[in-house]
Amino acid sequence: MSRRVRWREGASRNAIRASAAALLLVLGSGSVLAGGDPEAGAKVAETCQACHGPDGNSPSPLFPRLAGQYADYLLKTLEDYRSGERDNAVMKALVAQMSDQEMEDVSAFYASQPGPLFTIKLTR
Ligand code: HEC
Repeated sequence: MSRRVRWREGASRNAIRASAAALLLVLGSGSVLAGGDPEAGAKVAETCQACHGPDGNSPSPLFPRLAGQYADYLLKTLEDYRSGERDNAVMKALVAQMSDQEMEDVSAFYASQPGPLFTIKLTR
């Protein structure tokens, strides 16, 4: 009986390994889509620094920390402010004047900035 259990554990470990590998493949292929340029984004971020800080490490708890956040999270948030999915008057007014490329670039810029925000580094 205990032999049988051990075999099953081994099998499920392999299944976990296989799904982890599949997940990495999916996440890895996502990086092709995220095409922001952090250097161009630094220029866009000049509009944002009064609230979010020069590098996205906001000095005030009123403004979310952007430094070190995933670029695709930041981009999705900006798109949500634009569509109204996420409702904030200040951010809505700001994103209304941004192009898709500027949103991608500024997201890449903040994602590349160091700070205390902890995110797990993905393979991209
Ligand atoms: C006048 C102040 C102000 C300026 C300027 C400003 N923001 Fe914001 N930002 C805010 C506030 C306040 C929030 C939180 C709003 C909410 O509750 O959804 C926010 C939220 C965000 C978020 C969501 C963060 C998260 O973790 O969910 C992003 C991304 C963001 N801002 C990006 C930018 C970018 C890019 C710029 C420059 C183009 C910018 N902001 C300029 C005040 C500002």
